[in-house]
Amino acid sequence: PVKVYKDEHIASKKVANRIADLIRRKQDNHDNAVLGLATGATPVKVYEELIRMHKEEGLSFKNVITFNLDEYYPMQPDAKQSYVKFMDENLFNHIDIKRENIHIPDGTLAKEDITDYCLSYENQIGAVGGLDLQLLGIGRTGHIGFNEPGSAPNSGTRLVTLDDLTRRDASRDFGGKENVPTKAITMGIGTIFKAKEIILMAWSKKKAPILKKAVEGEMSGNVPATYLQLSDNVEFILDEDAASELT
Ligand code: F6R
Repeated sequence: PVKVYKDEHIASKKVANRIADLIRRKQDNHDNAVLGLATGATPVKVYEELIRMHKEEGLSFKNVITFNLDEYYPMQPDAKQSYVKFMDENLFNHIDIKRENIHIPDGTLAKEDITDYCLSYENQIGAVGGLDLQLLGIGRTGHIGFNEPGSAPNSGTRLVTLDDLTRRDASRDFGGKENVPTKAITMGIGTIFKAKEIILMAWSKKKAPILKKAVEGEMSGNVPATYLQLSDNVEFILDEDAASELT
């Protein structure tokens, strides 16, 4: 299903409320909430609202376990563009999550260790009962996580090559496309699919053409997000601009 809200602020609050409800429901059952998280511009206001709920309403993240979708490779965690830094600055430094409950793909691995690491990332998700909720943005290539065109629907966590358009879109953060890493470690489409609920968010006119393809287009590896059409557990949460080309 597709839900359209007037703007990014309202939509982000709705998503944050869904996350808070999940966390509280799990707390009542003395259980952990396992969240799959995204970086980039799209989820920033969701994280802001969660921080506000923590500070003003006492929402606790002590029972929350997180797995991020992806990280550039190679990438040092203390680099300005790392997703470790992004998550710290935009969420984790401002809430009471336990550091040991945070998982972000490791951009510092030696090449020969990546395959084992990716398997263990999958296993760690499984060991805590799987993802209760996965948050997604969408890239203009149709990527979810960094599953670029050509990704298989049953793909797992792995090292991938970034699409040229994705690197161009990231060039501002890196001061030029030539500085954007060519690779990343990402959860696979199969990994994402195992989540009990999936929320894909998109805001702004810039995303309208790819949203049209993702929601209404023919399913194809050329637009990995179209695979989400296969799942009953996916919600597309859009602002009016991102939804403006949907029929
Ligand atoms: C980020 C991620 C990517 C982004 C996508 C959209 O962890 O997995 O798929 O969600 O590139 O990026 P923004 O939100 O910056 O438009």
